[in-house]
Amino acid sequence: MTSITEKIRRRYDRIAPLFDKMDRMVDDKYRAELIGRVHGEVLEVGVGTGANLKFYPENVNVTAIDFSPRMLSYAQKRAKECRAKVRLVQMDVQHLQFDDNTFDFVVSTCVFCSVPDPVAGLLEIRRVLKPEGRLLMIEHMLSDHFPIAIALHLLNPLIVRITGANVNRRTMDNLRMAGFSIQDMRFIGFVDVFRLIVAAPNRSP
Ligand SMILES: C[S@@+](CC[C@H](N)C(=O)[O-])C[C@H]1O[C@@H](n2cnc3c(N)ncnc32)[C@H](O)[C@@H]1O
Repeated sequence: MTSITEKIRRRYDRIAPLFDKMDRMVDDKYRAELIGRVHGEVLEVGVGTGANLKFYPENVNVTAIDFSPRMLSYAQKRAKECRAKVRLVQMDVQHLQFDDNTFDFVVSTCVFCSVPDPVAGLLEIRRVLKPEGRLLMIEHMLSDHFPIAIALHLLNPLIVRITGANVNRRTMDNLRMAGFSIQDMRFIGFVDVFRLIVAAPNRSP
């Protein structure tokens, strides 16, 4: 692990006991909608304390990874109450230890704000997705509205220091750079900051 990845991982270990009280960013109705689309083999990256786990149907196999062992220890409790078969593994999304073309769906909710090299993580997701697979995301990112974007840039250093998350990531650009096409995107919640995204891996030339 690079030193920056290790630093961010330690921040999530530190906030893990408080995370569920601090984090009310995404309404459960959007999580349920996103997870309602999956079937087959599913990879959830940055599962955190397992906020999405209760929404998986029973007929899917879920592999859920996170680089923070402490966040995973909270997810472990939720996995026991889950209808689907869930396997939790400590792993860095920037270095996935799965074969190419393994998963039908990859899910990420509020993860690519803190992955140190987001394009590297997205390239890894593209590698492990089947060619017909889909990446399903709910992510917050930099607003396209100038005054909001300025505010997010100004707030970013403080928020990174406390939580490890960036509020000014250009996630739509990062997806394109990693070879994804946007199939569907809509704003949820506060202006254009939170977005529900369905992305498909481009075929290699
Ligand atoms: C803001 S939390 C979101 C947790 C959960 N997805 C949710 O919606 O509540 C971000 C999570 O991503 C994880 N994470 C960040 N960077 C990661 C990486 N490089 N590899 C794996 N997990 C990562 C953090 O440990 C943390 O659990």
